[in-house]
Amino acid sequence: MDLGISGKVALVTGAGRGIGAEICRTLAADGARIAVNDFFQERAEAAAAEIRSAGGDAIGVAADVTDLASIEAAVSRVESELGPVDILVNNAGIPATTTQDAVPSTGGFFPASSREDWDRTMGLITYGVLNCSRAVIGGMQERRWGRIVNVISDAGRIGEPRLVAYSMAKAGVIGFSKALAKESGRFAVTVNCVSPATTVTDATREWIEKQGEAIMRGYPLAKGLGRLGQPSDIASAVAFLSSARAEWITGQVLSVNGGYSMAS
Ligand SMILES: NC(=O)c1ccc[n+]([C@@H]2O[C@H](COP(=O)([O-])OP(=O)(O)OC[C@H]3O[C@@H](n4cnc5c(N)ncnc54)[C@H](O)[C@@H]3O)[C@@H](O)[C@H]2O)c1
Repeated sequence: MDLGISGKVALVTGAGRGIGAEICRTLAADGARIAVNDFFQERAEAAAAEIRSAGGDAIGVAADVTDLASIEAAVSRVESELGPVDILVNNAGIPATTTQDAVPSTGGFFPASSREDWDRTMGLITYGVLNCSRAVIGGMQERRWGRIVNVISDAGRIGEPRLVAYSMAKAGVIGFSKALAKESGRFAVTVNCVSPATTVTDATREWIEKQGEAIMRGYPLAKGLGRLGQPSDIASAVAFLSSARAEWITGQVLSVNGGYSMAS
Protein backbone atom coordinates (compact mmCIF):
# COMPACT_ATOMS: atom_id res chain seq x y z
CA MET A 1 0.00 0.00 0.00
CA ASP A 2 1.46 3.36 -1.01
CA LEU A 3 1.23 5.59 2.06
CA GLY A 4 1.44 8.78 0.00
CA ILE A 5 4.21 10.33 2.10
CA SER A 6 7.04 10.33 -0.41
CA GLY A 7 8.91 13.63 -0.04
CA LYS A 8 7.08 14.59 3.15
CA VAL A 9 9.31 15.80 5.99
CA ALA A 10 8.97 13.86 9.25
CA LEU A 11 10.42 14.88 12.60
CA VAL A 12 10.55 11.99 15.08
CA THR A 13 11.54 12.74 18.66
CA GLY A 14 13.55 10.44 20.91
CA ALA A 15 14.48 8.52 17.80
CA GLY A 16 18.14 7.71 18.24
CA ARG A 17 17.20 4.16 19.24
CA GLY A 18 14.24 1.91 20.04
CA ILE A 19 10.75 2.56 18.77
CA GLY A 20 11.60 6.04 17.44
CA ALA A 21 14.52 4.76 15.35
CA GLU A 22 12.27 2.09 13.83
CA ILE A 23 9.59 4.71 13.07
CA CYS A 24 12.26 6.69 11.21
CA ARG A 25 13.35 3.66 9.18
CA THR A 26 9.73 2.81 8.34
CA LEU A 27 8.80 6.34 7.23
CA ALA A 28 12.07 6.60 5.26
CA ALA A 29 11.25 3.34 3.46
CA ASP A 30 8.06 5.04 2.27
CA GLY A 31 10.06 7.95 0.89
CA ALA A 32 9.70 10.48 3.73
CA ARG A 33 12.64 12.75 4.52
CA ILE A 34 13.55 12.22 8.13
CA ALA A 35 14.76 14.45 10.95
CA VAL A 36 15.94 12.11 13.70
CA ASN A 37 15.78 13.89 17.04
CA ASP A 38 17.41 12.62 20.20
CA PHE A 39 18.75 14.08 23.43
CA PHE A 40 22.06 12.42 22.55
CA GLN A 41 23.68 13.82 19.42
CA GLU A 42 25.61 10.61 18.70
CA ARG A 43 22.41 8.56 18.73
CA ALA A 44 20.58 10.99 16.44
CA GLU A 45 23.52 11.13 14.01
CA ALA A 46 24.01 7.35 13.98
CA ALA A 47 20.33 6.64 13.29
CA ALA A 48 20.29 9.25 10.50
CA ALA A 49 23.49 7.83 8.98
CA GLU A 50 21.95 4.35 8.96
CA ILE A 51 18.96 5.64 6.99
CA ARG A 52 21.22 7.45 4.52
CA SER A 53 23.31 4.33 4.00
CA ALA A 54 20.09 2.44 3.16
CA GLY A 55 19.38 5.06 0.46
CA GLY A 56 17.05 7.32 2.45
CA ASP A 57 17.22 11.00 3.24
CA ALA A 58 17.83 11.88 6.90
CA ILE A 59 19.54 14.29 9.24
CA GLY A 60 20.23 14.01 12.96
CA VAL A 61 18.96 16.87 15.11
CA ALA A 62 20.01 16.69 18.72
CA ALA A 63 17.71 18.66 21.03
CA ASP A 64 16.09 18.27 24.41
CA VAL A 65 12.33 18.15 23.82
CA THR A 66 11.70 19.59 27.27
CA ASP A 67 13.37 22.84 26.23
CA LEU A 68 11.17 24.97 23.95
CA ALA A 69 14.03 27.16 22.67
CA SER A 70 16.11 24.11 21.81
CA ILE A 71 13.18 22.54 19.94
CA GLU A 72 12.40 25.76 18.04
CA ALA A 73 16.04 25.92 16.94
CA ALA A 74 15.92 22.25 15.89
CA VAL A 75 12.74 22.82 13.85
CA SER A 76 14.35 25.84 12.12
CA ARG A 77 17.29 23.65 11.18
CA VAL A 78 14.99 20.94 9.82
CA GLU A 79 13.08 23.54 7.80
CA SER A 80 16.23 24.93 6.23
CA GLU A 81 17.84 21.55 5.52
CA LEU A 82 14.83 19.37 4.63
CA GLY A 83 11.81 21.67 4.37
CA PRO A 84 8.76 22.40 6.54
CA VAL A 85 7.71 19.63 8.92
CA ASP A 86 4.70 17.72 7.58
CA ILE A 87 4.74 14.86 10.09
CA LEU A 88 5.63 15.10 13.78
CA VAL A 89 5.93 11.94 15.83
CA ASN A 90 6.17 12.77 19.52
CA ASN A 91 7.90 9.59 20.57
CA ALA A 92 10.31 10.68 23.31
CA GLY A 93 8.73 9.50 26.55
CA ILE A 94 11.22 7.60 28.65
CA PRO A 95 13.56 10.06 30.40
CA ALA A 96 17.11 10.04 29.06
CA THR A 97 19.58 8.86 31.62
CA THR A 98 22.72 10.90 32.09
CA THR A 99 24.91 8.33 30.39
CA GLN A 100 24.16 6.56 27.15
CA ASP A 101 24.56 3.09 28.59
CA ALA A 102 22.36 3.37 31.67
CA VAL A 103 18.95 1.70 31.50
CA PRO A 104 16.15 4.05 32.61
CA SER A 105 14.48 3.01 35.85
CA THR A 106 11.06 1.41 35.54
CA GLY A 107 10.01 3.28 38.65
CA GLY A 108 9.00 2.36 42.19
CA PHE A 109 5.70 2.51 44.04
CA PHE A 110 4.05 5.92 44.29
CA PRO A 111 4.71 6.66 47.99
CA ALA A 112 8.43 6.41 47.32
CA SER A 113 8.34 8.72 44.31
CA SER A 114 9.76 12.20 44.57
CA ARG A 115 8.96 15.60 43.16
CA GLU A 116 12.13 15.19 41.11
CA ASP A 117 10.74 11.97 39.53
CA TRP A 118 7.45 13.73 38.76
CA ASP A 119 9.17 16.74 37.22
CA ARG A 120 11.32 14.51 35.01
CA THR A 121 8.33 12.50 33.81
CA MET A 122 5.97 15.45 33.37
CA GLY A 123 8.72 17.56 31.80
CA LEU A 124 9.46 14.99 29.17
CA ILE A 125 6.01 13.70 28.37
CA THR A 126 3.84 16.77 28.92
CA TYR A 127 6.18 19.62 27.99
CA GLY A 128 7.93 17.54 25.33
CA VAL A 129 4.66 17.04 23.48
CA LEU A 130 3.55 20.67 24.01
CA ASN A 131 6.88 22.12 22.86
CA CYS A 132 7.30 20.03 19.74
CA SER A 133 3.68 20.32 18.68
CA ARG A 134 3.62 24.11 19.14
CA ALA A 135 6.81 24.42 17.10
CA VAL A 136 5.24 22.80 14.01
CA ILE A 137 1.46 23.14 14.20
CA GLY A 138 1.23 26.69 12.82
CA GLY A 139 3.06 25.72 9.64
CA MET A 140 0.98 22.58 9.20
CA GLN A 141 -2.24 24.58 9.57
CA GLU A 142 -1.06 27.21 7.08
CA ARG A 143 -0.13 24.55 4.52
CA ARG A 144 -3.36 22.64 5.27
CA TRP A 145 -1.56 19.29 5.57
CA GLY A 146 -0.11 17.80 8.70
CA ARG A 147 0.08 14.73 10.89
CA ILE A 148 0.91 14.61 14.56
CA VAL A 149 1.20 11.13 16.04
CA ASN A 150 1.82 10.87 19.77
CA VAL A 151 3.34 7.67 21.10
CA ILE A 152 1.66 7.22 24.44
CA SER A 153 1.37 4.00 26.47
CA ASP A 154 -1.37 1.65 27.61
CA ALA A 155 -0.28 2.83 31.07
CA GLY A 156 -2.12 6.04 30.20
CA ARG A 157 -5.27 4.12 29.20
CA ILE A 158 -5.57 1.60 32.03
CA GLY A 159 -2.96 2.70 34.63
CA GLU A 160 0.14 0.75 35.61
CA PRO A 161 1.45 0.23 39.15
CA ARG A 162 4.99 1.58 39.66
CA LEU A 163 4.33 3.99 36.79
CA VAL A 164 1.82 6.30 38.44
CA ALA A 165 3.14 9.68 37.29
CA TYR A 166 4.00 8.20 33.89
CA SER A 167 0.42 6.86 33.55
CA MET A 168 -0.91 10.30 34.48
CA ALA A 169 1.28 12.10 31.97
CA LYS A 170 0.50 9.70 29.12
CA ALA A 171 -3.24 9.99 29.87
CA GLY A 172 -2.81 13.76 29.59
CA VAL A 173 -1.42 13.36 26.08
CA ILE A 174 -4.70 11.70 25.06
CA GLY A 175 -6.66 14.80 26.14
CA PHE A 176 -4.13 17.03 24.42
CA SER A 177 -4.44 15.03 21.20
CA LYS A 178 -8.23 15.12 21.12
CA ALA A 179 -8.38 18.84 21.84
CA LEU A 180 -5.75 19.69 19.24
CA ALA A 181 -7.44 17.35 16.74
CA LYS A 182 -10.67 19.34 17.20
CA GLU A 183 -8.85 22.66 16.72
CA SER A 184 -6.95 21.42 13.69
CA GLY A 185 -9.63 19.61 11.70
CA ARG A 186 -10.55 22.73 9.77
CA PHE A 187 -6.95 22.90 8.58
CA ALA A 188 -6.96 19.21 7.48
CA VAL A 189 -4.31 18.45 10.11
CA THR A 190 -4.80 15.23 12.09
CA VAL A 191 -3.64 14.38 15.61
CA ASN A 192 -3.72 10.79 16.87
CA CYS A 193 -2.11 8.53 19.46
CA VAL A 194 -0.47 5.15 19.14
CA SER A 195 -0.42 3.31 22.44
CA PRO A 196 2.11 0.51 22.93
CA ALA A 197 2.20 -1.89 25.83
CA THR A 198 5.46 -3.68 26.61
CA THR A 199 7.69 -3.50 23.57
CA VAL A 200 11.18 -4.94 23.44
CA THR A 201 13.70 -2.07 23.32
CA ASP A 202 16.92 -1.11 25.09
CA ALA A 203 14.77 0.68 27.67
CA THR A 204 12.81 -2.46 28.61
CA ARG A 205 14.90 -5.51 27.64
CA GLU A 206 16.48 -6.02 31.06
CA TRP A 207 13.14 -5.64 32.85
CA ILE A 208 11.44 -8.06 30.41
CA GLU A 209 14.16 -10.66 30.95
CA LYS A 210 13.63 -10.44 34.71
CA GLN A 211 9.89 -11.18 34.27
CA GLY A 212 10.64 -14.48 32.50
CA GLU A 213 7.95 -16.46 30.66
CA ALA A 214 5.20 -15.11 32.96
CA ILE A 215 5.05 -11.84 31.06
CA MET A 216 3.77 -13.61 27.94
CA ARG A 217 0.53 -14.52 29.76
CA GLY A 218 -0.66 -10.90 29.72
CA TYR A 219 -0.66 -10.70 25.93
CA PRO A 220 -3.22 -12.86 24.08
CA LEU A 221 -1.28 -12.67 20.81
CA ALA A 222 1.98 -13.58 22.53
CA LYS A 223 0.61 -17.10 22.87
CA GLY A 224 -0.10 -17.35 19.14
CA LEU A 225 3.00 -15.61 17.89
CA GLY A 226 5.47 -16.67 20.57
CA ARG A 227 6.77 -13.15 21.04
CA LEU A 228 6.20 -9.77 22.67
CA GLY A 229 5.71 -6.42 20.92
CA GLN A 230 8.54 -5.20 18.71
CA PRO A 231 9.34 -1.64 17.58
CA SER A 232 8.23 -2.59 14.06
CA ASP A 233 4.70 -3.26 15.36
CA ILE A 234 4.48 0.28 16.69
CA ALA A 235 6.19 1.80 13.65
CA SER A 236 3.67 0.27 11.24
CA ALA A 237 0.76 1.87 13.10
CA VAL A 238 2.54 5.22 13.32
CA ALA A 239 3.33 5.10 9.60
CA PHE A 240 -0.32 4.48 8.74
CA LEU A 241 -1.59 7.34 10.93
CA SER A 242 1.14 9.59 9.44
CA SER A 243 0.05 8.78 5.94
CA ALA A 244 -2.19 10.32 3.33
CA ARG A 245 -4.33 7.18 3.71
CA ALA A 246 -5.35 8.24 7.23
CA GLU A 247 -6.68 11.69 6.34
CA TRP A 248 -10.16 10.91 7.77
CA ILE A 249 -8.85 9.69 11.12
CA THR A 250 -8.23 12.17 13.93
CA GLY A 251 -8.41 12.33 17.71
CA GLN A 252 -8.08 8.55 18.00
CA VAL A 253 -6.03 6.26 20.22
CA LEU A 254 -4.81 3.01 18.68
CA SER A 255 -3.38 0.45 21.08
CA VAL A 256 -0.72 -1.77 19.51
CA ASN A 257 -0.32 -4.25 22.29
CA GLY A 258 -0.99 -7.87 21.34
CA GLY A 259 -4.36 -7.56 23.08
CA TYR A 260 -2.92 -6.56 26.47
CA SER A 261 -5.68 -4.03 27.12
CA MET A 262 -8.80 -3.60 25.05
CA ALA A 263 -9.72 -0.14 26.27
CA SER A 264 -12.40 1.48 24.13
N1 LIG B 1 9.30 0.12 25.22
C1 LIG B 1 8.11 -0.06 25.78
O1 LIG B 1 7.78 -1.12 26.37
C2 LIG B 1 7.06 1.04 25.71
C3 LIG B 1 5.76 0.75 26.15
C4 LIG B 1 4.80 1.75 26.10
C5 LIG B 1 5.13 3.00 25.60
N2 LIG B 1 6.39 3.23 25.18
C6 LIG B 1 6.70 4.58 24.69
O2 LIG B 1 7.39 4.48 23.46
C7 LIG B 1 8.29 5.58 23.34
C8 LIG B 1 9.68 5.09 22.99
O3 LIG B 1 10.12 4.13 23.94
P1 LIG B 1 11.46 3.28 23.76
O4 LIG B 1 11.26 2.02 24.51
O5 LIG B 1 11.83 3.21 22.31
O6 LIG B 1 12.52 4.21 24.55
P2 LIG B 1 14.11 4.29 24.46
O7 LIG B 1 14.57 4.77 25.79
O8 LIG B 1 14.70 3.01 23.93
O9 LIG B 1 14.37 5.42 23.38
C9 LIG B 1 13.92 6.70 23.59
C10 LIG B 1 14.94 7.73 23.14
O10 LIG B 1 14.42 8.98 23.61
C11 LIG B 1 15.53 9.81 23.91
N3 LIG B 1 15.13 10.89 24.81
C12 LIG B 1 14.88 10.81 26.14
N4 LIG B 1 14.65 12.02 26.64
C13 LIG B 1 14.74 12.90 25.60
C14 LIG B 1 14.60 14.31 25.50
N5 LIG B 1 14.36 15.05 26.57
N6 LIG B 1 14.74 14.88 24.28
C15 LIG B 1 14.99 14.12 23.20
N7 LIG B 1 15.16 12.78 23.24
C16 LIG B 1 15.03 12.17 24.43
C17 LIG B 1 16.53 8.85 24.56
O11 LIG B 1 17.85 9.39 24.51
C18 LIG B 1 16.34 7.57 23.75
O12 LIG B 1 17.31 7.46 22.72
C19 LIG B 1 8.19 6.36 24.66
O13 LIG B 1 7.27 7.43 24.50
C20 LIG B 1 7.62 5.34 25.62
O14 LIG B 1 6.93 5.96 26.69
C21 LIG B 1 7.37 2.29 25.23
